[in-house]
Amino acid sequence: MDGTELYRKVLLTVSGSRLVERLTLKYGKKMARKFIAGDTLEQALEETKRLNQLGIMVTLDHLGEGITSLDEATGYKNQYINLLEGISGHRVNANVSLKPTQMGLSLEQEACYANVRSVAARAKELGNFVRLDMEDSTFTQATIDMTLRLHAEGMSNVGTVLQAYLFRTDNDVKALMKAGVNLRLVKGAYKEPATIASQRMSDIIIRYKKMIQRHLDQGKYTAIASHDDRIINWVKEYAARHRIPKDAFEFQMLYGLRMNDQAELAREGYRIRCYTPYGMMWYPYYTRRLAEKPANLMMVVKNMFK
Ligand code: FDA
Repeated sequence: MDGTELYRKVLLTVSGSRLVERLTLKYGKKMARKFIAGDTLEQALEETKRLNQLGIMVTLDHLGEGITSLDEATGYKNQYINLLEGISGHRVNANVSLKPTQMGLSLEQEACYANVRSVAARAKELGNFVRLDMEDSTFTQATIDMTLRLHAEGMSNVGTVLQAYLFRTDNDVKALMKAGVNLRLVKGAYKEPATIASQRMSDIIIRYKKMIQRHLDQGKYTAIASHDDRIINWVKEYAARHRIPKDAFEFQMLYGLRMNDQAELAREGYRIRCYTPYGMMWYPYYTRRLAEKPANLMMVVKNMFK
């Protein structure tokens, strides 16, 4: 295990501690702001307008995960419907991403399905798109099943995410591509055991490139979500070499990371989408960002001592 892999494991473990959570909630919000577009929908839509002016498309994410009651899930469903209507009303270039657990997946699968279906149906009416983020491996099968079920019900405006680190992804990618599901391809952000997921970054990169290549070769629209130059430059070169047009894929990055590079990709004529979270439930999202890159944690430490 190299230093970066060890760092990521330790941070994901430490952030699970209640004490660390309490301290971060108390002192960390100002620092978390870099990664979050605001507390409210209005603030998020304003930020979306600004990003659109730079040629950057947006995915809006109303933060929330790990809920404990179905009432909360209903609340999030309604928030997402408001969000879709806000996007339509403000005529911004944005779609939405949601977490299945936010809609009740860990509580009751059918209730979750009904919530997601309502959001997807409203999105379809408004000509918009909904992506189901992929959470940890306990939810992978249910998220894929839900996506395929929505497609079977005519909601092809729903996509999901596949994680390169999971061994099962080799089969999932075939099933989802066959069904014509729009996929976001990522390395994977959760702490998973070695029995089911690759632990070495070098292996994950090989798996990731293979998955992207398969998509591009088959002419499937591909969303490549990574900040890694090894991936971005490889995709650019691969697409140029195989005459794959720039509108056959999009890059995606997170709000607050490499923002100048996001604008630069837009200037170069690539499609680039910024995943832009907003809302009050920022802690789990924020700690995953810190786990991904020591520099993100260093920025927090520097701010603490300013
Ligand atoms: P990684 O963190 O592996 O860094 C690799 C290299 O990239 C670094 O060494 C550095 O060279 C460069 N780099 C990274 N960040 C940089 C920065 N800020 N500035 C300069 N260089 C930098 N995961 C998941 O499990 N489910 C999901 O649904 C999603 N959804 C999602 C959406 C979007 C839009 C993105 C971008 C990511 C996700 N992820 C995700 C997270 C994903 O799985 C992964 O954990 C992170 O993207 C981190 O991997 P990267 O490839 O971005 O770079």
